[in-house]
Amino acid sequence: MTETSETGGTTGESRTNDEVWIVGATGRIGRGVTARLAARGLKVMPVGRSRERMLAAGAAAGLPGDAKVVVADSAERIADEIVRKRPRVVVNTMGAFAATAPVIARACLPGGGHYVDQANDVVAVDRLLALHDEAVRAGSTLVTGAGFGVLATEAVVAKLCEGRPTPHRVRVDAVASVAVEAGALGAALAASLVDVLTTGGRRYENGRLMTSRLGADPQQLTFPDGESAKSAGVSSGELVAAHAVSGAPFVTATSALVPAAPLIRALLPLFGRLLSVPALRRLAVDRLGRVPVKAAPRPRKHSWGHAVVEWRDGTRREGWLRADDGMDFTAEVTATVTELLARGVGRPGAWTPAAALGADLATAAGGTFVLD
Ligand SMILES: NC(=O)c1ccc[n+]([C@@H]2O[C@H](COP(=O)([O-])OP(=O)(O)OC[C@H]3O[C@@H](n4cnc5c(N)ncnc54)[C@H](OP(=O)(O)O)[C@@H]3O)[C@@H](O)[C@H]2O)c1
Repeated sequence: MTETSETGGTTGESRTNDEVWIVGATGRIGRGVTARLAARGLKVMPVGRSRERMLAAGAAAGLPGDAKVVVADSAERIADEIVRKRPRVVVNTMGAFAATAPVIARACLPGGGHYVDQANDVVAVDRLLALHDEAVRAGSTLVTGAGFGVLATEAVVAKLCEGRPTPHRVRVDAVASVAVEAGALGAALAASLVDVLTTGGRRYENGRLMTSRLGADPQQLTFPDGESAKSAGVSSGELVAAHAVSGAPFVTATSALVPAAPLIRALLPLFGRLLSVPALRRLAVDRLGRVPVKAAPRPRKHSWGHAVVEWRDGTRREGWLRADDGMDFTAEVTATVTELLARGVGRPGAWTPAAALGADLATAAGGTFVLD
């Protein structure tokens, strides 16, 4: 593979070429997405800061020997390359989405190019959705939260609300089950975990996004397959999507990523305040990202997205989305969304995944609904 030098030809109205760029193709999600899209015959180009690592990852993902790569080491430099070369779809897996997503997504707009990421925090998802009007004018589709989080819960809420009046109250719970790969935890995941602590909790009350305690509302969930897990309140893109898709004035979200043990939950606000100090945050992300982790199988057979929807008349509906490994499901969701956008399916605008492409995207990506 060689470093790219020239832009490809333009096609149709969109003034983009036929390339799909994968920012972070050496990472866990990036590798999975690259392999899936290469297998589906798309023209995939890895984008990242190490040419050698991208060449190795591209070869392992099955890219052809003459496939090109784009070398760039920051969201701003990647944006410059996008503006120059006009890929049809850019997949952003580099993390730190609150900062990187608006920069990279905006660079896709002038040519009518499309954008996909896996953000699942309120700030990042809000910032991307704020580009909606610009995306409509440009004819671009921007999709954020293209992973287990947001789609696994958003799709269940959408299904439960289909053809019904606006509900009064919604709760979503996300319990991913993920096999651990041997190696360092990685800076992107470390930054996401630290962001959960520094952002604290959020909930919708009377239609307004309010601060709440991280770890509030602990749940003991029993899944349809008989396994169980604990989860607790979190501020997440899932919360934003559940509110948008249902229109309910009262919405809460929990995640199994938030410790449910009472002592740790009591300490979460203190950790959050400490990690809000920029120097401590940088140190924590750096140290956590380097933590060596041992390979381990996923703790439960399935990952589960769950929603409970209540109406003012007392009607209550509950549903689940069952997926296998949460990381594999995320790579599959991103690959499915990307392929659809590359083939011209998708409304212009900035969206969460089910809002962009419908709740059945979750089954197209390998999930199964279990609805009451
Ligand atoms: N929504 C969901 O359900 C979901 C699920 C899984 C993951 N995620 C999120 O998705 C993101 C990716 O996860 P992951 O596990 O794949 O992370 P990862 O393995 O750490 O991969 C991150 C990738 O980004 C690249 N990168 C980092 N900084 C860069 C920079 N400045 N310039 C260019 N490239 C850069 C890395 O390249 P190098 O090789 O140079 O380090 C690597 O290829 C994380 O934010 C994670 O939290 C979301």
